[in-house]
Amino acid sequence: MLTLRPAREADRAALYRICLQTGASGEDATALYHDPLLLGHVYAGPYLTHAPDFAFVLDPGDGTQAAGYILGAPDTAAFEATLEREWWPALRRIYPDPAGVPRERRTPDQRIAHLIHHPAHTPADLLGAYPAHLHIDLLPRAQGGGRGRALMTTLLGALRGAGVPGVHLGVGESNTRAQGFYQHLGFQELRRSPGAVTYGLRLMATGATSPDDPA
Ligand SMILES: CC(C)(COP(=O)(O)OP(=O)(O)OC[C@H]1O[C@@H](n2cnc3c(N)ncnc32)[C@H](O)[C@@H]1OP(=O)(O)O)[C@@H](O)C(=O)NCCC(=O)NCCS
Repeated sequence: MLTLRPAREADRAALYRICLQTGASGEDATALYHDPLLLGHVYAGPYLTHAPDFAFVLDPGDGTQAAGYILGAPDTAAFEATLEREWWPALRRIYPDPAGVPRERRTPDQRIAHLIHHPAHTPADLLGAYPAHLHIDLLPRAQGGGRGRALMTTLLGALRGAGVPGVHLGVGESNTRAQGFYQHLGFQELRRSPGAVTYGLRLMATGATSPDDPA
């Protein structure tokens, strides 16, 4: 029995573990990384710390760790600015910048360390219509039973409640299963770069500030 609930600080280790165990285009990335925390430092930890109202987990309810999560940031530009001030500096002191190593020779750990030192900034033209972004990952035993949809419905509700007009996400080009899931839920492909696809979903009817606004 997996129960959906807001994430809390005690879930941090589980978020990092799920992130690693789904970090190779949806498959287990444990064997790829020497440092098991690196992926979580980029794709899980900052959300629990800096956007906790938009983080939800699947709780097995038997005292074992969470089996899946959805993590969102309602305002990506503000989130990136916050991380620049409050999240990356400590990690930059731990992980050296591999900028001197040619890109094609970087190990998976060095590719993530490079992101810590040179985080990608989401293009402004994307943020106008889709200012929020999200990450969703379920361990294999939690997949395929409607829980991904339930997590997505919960986060999208929280984003709508905060007045967010749209959300985007990035997915590996080879992760066709997740892409099928996003398309099935109404996400539209917005752009494609080598190895990655960006999807977006509008959360408010065009021209309205809220679907519940009186006419
Ligand atoms: C991708 C993922 C989040 C989907 O969650 P899930 O729990 O497996 O999906 P659900 O069972 O909730 O499916 C929801 C709906 O999407 C549909 N769906 C799921 N995968 C689909 C696919 N590949 N193509 C078409 N439809 C799909 C389901 O049939 C279901 O339809 P319905 O609700 O209308 O009956 C989950 O499998 C996962 O975490 N995978 C590993 C990590 C990963 O790849 N994360 C994304 C990284 S960008």
